[in-house]
Formats: sequence, structure tokens, C-alpha cells
Amino acid sequence: MADMPSQFWAGWIVVITVTSFLALVWLIVDIYRDGDLGGEVKDELWDETLREGARPAPVWWFWFILALMAVSVVYVMLYPGLGAYRGALRWSLGGQITERFADYETQFGARRRRILELSFAELAHDEETMRSAWRVFNNHCTSCHGRDAGGQAQQFPDLSDASWQWGGSEVQLSETIRAGRQAAMPAWQASIGEQGVRRLADYVLALAAGDDGSAAQAEGAGLFQQFCTACHGADGSGNPVLGAPALNDAVWLYGGSRADVMRSIAMGRNGVMPTFGGRLDETQIRLVAAWLSAGAKVPDER
Ligand code: HEC
Ligand code: HEC
Repeated sequence: MADMPSQFWAGWIVVITVTSFLALVWLIVDIYRDGDLGGEVKDELWDETLREGARPAPVWWFWFILALMAVSVVYVMLYPGLGAYRGALRWSLGGQITERFADYETQFGARRRRILELSFAELAHDEETMRSAWRVFNNHCTSCHGRDAGGQAQQFPDLSDASWQWGGSEVQLSETIRAGRQAAMPAWQASIGEQGVRRLADYVLALAAGDDGSAAQAEGAGLFQQFCTACHGADGSGNPVLGAPALNDAVWLYGGSRADVMRSIAMGRNGVMPTFGGRLDETQIRLVAAWLSAGAKVPDER
């Protein structure tokens, strides 16, 4: 009962189609039945200078149209086109897609399952796999991270080094790509003042240079213990869970000049890595993560 209306409409479409088709056939046959076929040229005078020249359509036209009509009848018998009738060949768009997908599965299914099973180190050994991985990266990531994953303009981090803000394990890298990351480095200017920012910058720069806080940075060290260790750790080694980068190395996301570091501390930083879980499937995510983990080497073009 529920599909009554759609059956009704399907039936209605059949009636309309068949009726208009028959009407067309009748029209064509009628035009040519009057002996108009091929014959003489009419030349009626309408007004002094206005004449109507009417030349009957040629015979081949008639047969051509009939042939086209025959083809459309055969088509409608074989393929869907007449209401709900599916056609003798039972063709469907859905069927086509299923077929193609089955093709795709037999062709790539095994390879995809292997990619999900192998470790990053194993994947990195296979040149062809790394080439596919780079293609995914090239399509989705280069706009921000650069073609060689070297980062850009102190806004998009270098992914070709071994220093990971959000962690470099298989799970962490995949999670970064799948779910994205949103960094929250607060702005400190308001609470510690310009002087505090300057002292902290000096301390952070000393940390980065491998100096763990001489007397000259004592004040900065105090501030650091008070405000910064919760995220960056007591020794400034960072915390991948919060995306707080290590400050005790010479790798900088936003630049390592005194001015850059002061700006980071004073105004805060809020880098956003977009989510790719919807755009890439698990195989692609695993591929790129493995490629990054292996040092992001751009393969030779072939
Ligand atoms: C709530 C956690 C949190 C606290 C507290 C915090 N930071 Fe950060 N910090 C971060 C995060 C997260 C980033 C990375 C920002 C990004 O990627 O956009 C960061 C980035 C930085 C950077 C930029 C590093 C680079 O490589 O360019 C500096 C410098 C820095 N923090 C210094 C400090 C100092 C000094 C303090 C204490 C006053 C501090 N942070 C307190 C979370 C924190
Ligand atoms: C719209 C720009 C943009 C695109 C596109 C983008 N990223 Fe990012 N990505 C960022 C930003 C910004 C960060 C830094 C986030 C932060 O400050 O914590 C980041 C961070 C990362 C990190 C974390 C680095 C670390 O040190 O932990 C990884 C891994 C990463 N991106 C991989 C990728 C991959 C793989 C792609 C492509 C699938 C991609 N990104 C596409 C902007 C982008």
C-alpha cells in the first residue's frame, strides 16, 4: 500500500510516454501520407512581393525519423526509461557502481589490507608504497606544509624533521592527521607584563641554547617554573598531549629570534591543523603518517 503513489505515478508516466509517442508516429505518417513526399514545389503568392516557397521534406527524412523511433522503442525495452519498468537488461546506476566497486576491491583490496597491517618501518621500505604516500601528501598537504614537507612562513610546521610537537609515534601521527590538532598557547603579556615577557624570552633562548638557567636568567627561570611548566614541562621538554613543543631544543615553530620568541610569549599562538578524517580513508592516513615518520623524502619523479 505504501508505494501506491509511486506506482500510480510510474503508471501515469508510462501512459504519457506511450500516448505522446503514438501521437508523434501518427503525425509523421500523416504528414507524408498526403502525397507530399518529395513532390512538386509549392510557390504561393501572399502579397505583391511576399511569396511562400514550400518545399516538401525529402523522403529519406521520413525513413530516418521512423528508424530513430524504432531505436527508441528498442532502447526503452532494454533499459529503464518507461515508468518503473527496469528494462530487459536490468541495468541500473547502482548496479554499475557495485560492479565497479567490486573491481576496485579485487584490484586494490589486498594492497589496502597490507598497508593497514604492516608497520611504518616496513612500509617505508617499499618504494612504490612511499610514492603513493607522497602523492596523497602532495594532493592534500603541500598547500600548507610545502612540497617537501619543510613547512612555510613560520605558520606551518616543518614535518621533515624528527621533532614532533604532537608526538611522532604511529598512533600520535595518525591521530594528528585524522582528527586535526588545535594548539592553545595562552597570551602572557597581560599577566606578566612586558618586563616578564622579556625575561622569559631570555630564559627560553638560553634553554634552547642548552643553558639550563644561569644566574643571569634566574628571574626568568622563576617565572618559567611558575607559569610555563604545566604545559612545557619543568625542563622545557614539552608535552605532546597538549601539543606544547619542546623549548629546550633549537627547533622553532614560529621562529627563534628574540622578537619571534617574545611575540609567542606575549600574544600566544594558536596553530590549527585541520581534520582529514573525512577526506582521507584509513589507508591514506596510514600511508602519509608512515611517509612522514620515515623522514618525508620526496621520491624521484618517474
Ligand atoms: C596551556 C599550555 C601552555 C602554557 C601554560 C604555556 N604554553 Fe607555550 N605553548 C603551548 C602550545 C600548545 C604551543 C604551540 C602553539 C602552536 O603550535 O600554535 C606553545 C608554544 C610556545 C612557544 C613557541 C615555540 C616555537 O617553537 O615557536 C614559546 C616560545 C612558548 N610556548 C613559551 C611559553 C612560555 C614562556 C610559557 C610560560 C609563560 C608558556 N609557553 C606557557 C602551550 C602552553
Ligand atoms: C590549512 C593548512 C594545513 C593543511 C592543509 C595541513 N596542515 Fe598539517 N598542520 C597545519 C598547522 C597550522 C599545524 C600546526 C598546528 C599546531 O600549531 O599545533 C599542522 C601540524 C601538523 C602535524 C603535527 C606536527 C607536529 O610537530 O606534531 C602533522 C603531522 C601534520 N600537520 C600533517 C599534515 C598532513 C599529513 C596533511 C595533509 C593530509 C596536513 N598536515 C595538512 C596546517 C595544515
